[in-house]
Amino acid sequence: MSTRKTKPIGLSSILSRDEMNDKHPGTHTVPIYQSSTFIYESAEKAQQVFRGEEEAYIYSRWSHPNAELVEKKMEQLECYGLDLKAKALVFSSGMAAISALFQSVLKRGDAVIAQGNIYGTTVDYLNHYSKEWGVEVLYADLKNLKDVEALLRQKQNVRLVYIETPSNPTLQCYDLSKLSGLAKKYRALTAVDNTFATPYLQQPFKWGIDFIVHSGTKYLNGHGTGLSGFLVGRNTGFIKKEVWKIRKLNGTIATAFECWLLNNGLKTLPLRMEQHSKNALFIARALEKHPAIAKVHYPGLKSHDDFNLAKKQMRLSGGVLSFELKGGNKAAQKLMNKIRFCKLTASLGTTDTLLQHPASMSHYFVPKTQREQFGITDGLIRLSVGIENTEDILEDILQAIK
Ligand SMILES: Cc1ncc(COP(=O)(O)O)c(C=O)c1O
Repeated sequence: MSTRKTKPIGLSSILSRDEMNDKHPGTHTVPIYQSSTFIYESAEKAQQVFRGEEEAYIYSRWSHPNAELVEKKMEQLECYGLDLKAKALVFSSGMAAISALFQSVLKRGDAVIAQGNIYGTTVDYLNHYSKEWGVEVLYADLKNLKDVEALLRQKQNVRLVYIETPSNPTLQCYDLSKLSGLAKKYRALTAVDNTFATPYLQQPFKWGIDFIVHSGTKYLNGHGTGLSGFLVGRNTGFIKKEVWKIRKLNGTIATAFECWLLNNGLKTLPLRMEQHSKNALFIARALEKHPAIAKVHYPGLKSHDDFNLAKKQMRLSGGVLSFELKGGNKAAQKLMNKIRFCKLTASLGTTDTLLQHPASMSHYFVPKTQREQFGITDGLIRLSVGIENTEDILEDILQAIK
């Protein structure tokens, strides 16, 4: 046997291959395990598995090979180059992962501090959850660290600080290292929605964050073909026991087919994120000069308040930007009706360019006062820049603004 120590393989190598083992003999890629349940060769074996003495699949609501494959890749992605181990669980959607986080961490009487400018349905969930489950939701500007510390000091019941960076749809960035340090001082946990950046561009664990959530529907799948989500935690025991139980009870694991699609997307994630970021920077720079646009929000622009922070926390600035039309709602409606090449839809993270109006679409359910307080105005357009030729994207936006 060779005693030579082998170097760990690189990130693109991990993602682009399916490491085959004796669980999937003879195939090149992992097949779709379209089976609701799994069988045992004997009564004794079945009983050992149910008693937890033998590891084997039991029922696809609990786990299945396609789920395990993408979970392993996600753990490696979020921890790549870091000296730590994490556990990931895949869910049927980003919201299923986010709600599993809240359900497992927050108990009646606890409080959560969150930004007001996060994904609209997360706000909707928190507002609903706080009423129905007796959890206090405290919205704060997480850039104002003094206010965050005052809240943590004054409210002894803060269990979780919930961060989304870059935020949806205003592309604000938050200092993960400072926020995780503050939370630790007051014995609170931290969670980051890493959907916009993906772990290829940003690794929240590097900055001391406890939990990471993703909408896998976006860049991780990458092609707009399915819904999925992830919850990843550095406390592997907590994820395996508490979060896994919630997923099993709620039945919110992603199906074998969704995981198979997700695995195909993960194979090209680094390539796509490089191109999305390059294209978005090109479009952001061009739109910044346009007389009908008051402001472009993109962390890769020098004019962005968080340019330096994004440079520190992120490898590149990602594929999403938003811009504020001087003409407000009227100009936004006109643009939405005039685009031809870009597509009008609420999602993001696909190979083609998608555009939407947060005030009347993704953030419609966020109360107007809260929306406006956090910069989600009637003239704001969110653009998920695809990997097409940039001239085609730009030409379409320019003709639609005219
Ligand atoms: C930042 C962010 N987080 C979470 C979600 C929810 O993900 P899903 O739609 O997969 O439930 C979305 C969806 O748009 C999102 O943009």
